[in-house]
Amino acid sequence: MTKKFYQLSLTERHQYLQDHTALTASDLQAYTPQGGLSPPERADAMVENAVGVFSLPIGIAQNFVVNGKAVLVPMVLEEPSVIAGASFMAKLAQKSGGFTASMSSQQMIGQLQLLDLKDPPEATAKIISENKESLLKIVNDNAPPRLVQRGGGARDIETRFIQNSPIGPFLVIHLILDVRDAMGANAINTALEQLAEPVAKLTGGRVHLKILSNLADKRLATAEAAFAPETLAFDSYSGETVRDGILEAWAFAVADPYRAATHNKGIMNGIDAVVLATGNDWRAIEAGAHAYAARDGSYTSLSQWRKDENGNLYGKLTLPMAVGIVGGATRVHPTAQANLKLMGVSSAEELGEIIVSVGLAQNLAAMRALATEGIQRGHMSLHARQIALAAGANASQAQNVADQMVRENTINAQRAQEILKEMKEDSHD
Ligand code: MEV
Repeated sequence: MTKKFYQLSLTERHQYLQDHTALTASDLQAYTPQGGLSPPERADAMVENAVGVFSLPIGIAQNFVVNGKAVLVPMVLEEPSVIAGASFMAKLAQKSGGFTASMSSQQMIGQLQLLDLKDPPEATAKIISENKESLLKIVNDNAPPRLVQRGGGARDIETRFIQNSPIGPFLVIHLILDVRDAMGANAINTALEQLAEPVAKLTGGRVHLKILSNLADKRLATAEAAFAPETLAFDSYSGETVRDGILEAWAFAVADPYRAATHNKGIMNGIDAVVLATGNDWRAIEAGAHAYAARDGSYTSLSQWRKDENGNLYGKLTLPMAVGIVGGATRVHPTAQANLKLMGVSSAEELGEIIVSVGLAQNLAAMRALATEGIQRGHMSLHARQIALAAGANASQAQNVADQMVRENTINAQRAQEILKEMKEDSHD
């Protein structure tokens, strides 16, 4: 029987990636200590005062099928159980065809804060609206050629009136820029600076801040998947019990911000790990996600779950997804490059669709555990392996020692050493 990915050694996993993806042996260097940001001088070109690099594990989530396409998903994070949880839920989703995902557009929002207006806000908004085409033309005439080649550019200008603020009312102008395959922060911030003077001239106001909004709600990614109850059954839990327990867990997150924060953190476990693996700005994604979760005035669950007409558990997740596959760290970080190649994505849209699918899977993994046996059992296995390794087990012994400690419900260094000793004695018999 062929081994599963998780049963392979690290070297065998590299070989698997070389055999099953576009990654070459030299690309795989990116996953070794000699790869990535090595030599550390590469880091010096990325941030100020660099003294070295900081590493985190990278693992590959299995079983993901997104819009009919199988994809291996690289995830960077320090927390055990996340990659296993996502992979397992993706396997369950496969039984109903995997994840269906889409993105609303690749449009970013940039903001200009317009102060000291000489006319009433309605009159100023009218001036902006009447001059919209010429303002859009300024942005498009100065847009980076690569953005234009890829079909990007300024799409719209909107005005918003802020009634109440510590400095009184003021106007905000939104520039809507299609950034295509870039994350787009640089493109939009540059475009806003180009607009500042013309807007000030037109309106007689003072343009103060010029900056993108991380509440990228025109760049929403959505994933959906159905899970037949029988796929959710395990141990003594029937599929219906698990499904209904998950719906109760979800209702808690919908109604209570204290729970919603943790529920959404579970979603972000999956999302951030892929965002980070691809060199994207995970703080931007975090900020956008939580602002979106509070868009109706109270903080709530980012995901929606229901029982569908066939009794399946049906999940849907939508959140802003400002990620790119060109520019920024995605371009300069060799491991981010390898990860994009591993996934075989050819657009920011495709990457966003995969990321949101991982978020949905992660959410289900957490709720399934919480609504049944609790999350500690899953965590314990990897924890036990770490204890076994620290007690002197080699890579091939560690899992057996860990499994035995979990079975016995005694996970500590002393027991690990005893089991190792017993294993040695047995091998001498
Ligand atoms: C832990 O990193 C994530 C969870 O707390 C998420 C949740 O509670 O839904 C398990």
